[in-house]
Amino acid sequence: MITNLEQFYFDQVNDLYSAETQLLGILPEMAENATCPELREAFKNHLQETRTHCERLNIIRDRQGISNQTEDCEAMRGLIAEARKYLTQTIPGGLRDAVLIAAGNRIEHYEIAGYGATKAFANCLGYGEDANLLGETLKEEGAADAAITKIATGGIFHSGVNEAASHTTEPVLV
Ligand SMILES: [Fe+2]
Ligand SMILES: [Fe+2]
Repeated sequence: MITNLEQFYFDQVNDLYSAETQLLGILPEMAENATCPELREAFKNHLQETRTHCERLNIIRDRQGISNQTEDCEAMRGLIAEARKYLTQTIPGGLRDAVLIAAGNRIEHYEIAGYGATKAFANCLGYGEDANLLGETLKEEGAADAAITKIATGGIFHSGVNEAASHTTEPVLV
């Protein structure tokens, strides 16, 4: 049972940690699968940042004495499973990049929601240093989302996506 905000906050910190560690597994795959060099770079950069996100959560867990219980973030597991499903249904190129952008945006928005709420809880509980660390990560999640969106709106969908779809007999996104 969770009976107070502090317990819920600790639970959320562990949940974020689970989400971040799951991302350490998928982000290299996302980078490898990207054809657009900017998209590939965006995922690589965010992989580096994600390592820092894990470190920040560990600082908070150490400071607060939060047990390292393995909390499994089921929502992130679902987002990753869905991304992998679409990767198996497309071939490399513009269309697969569209798949990666859709997955990346979903993942970043999920993290933004999680860090936003958890930072607010930290502030409510008077844990200002935790809130600062969570805020740093929140900024980077927002920047990662913006970077992906910028690539998506920069013409990637006008070059290659429909061509790839019409010239292949491989299964494509339906
Ligand atoms: Fe993150
Ligand atoms: Fe992220």
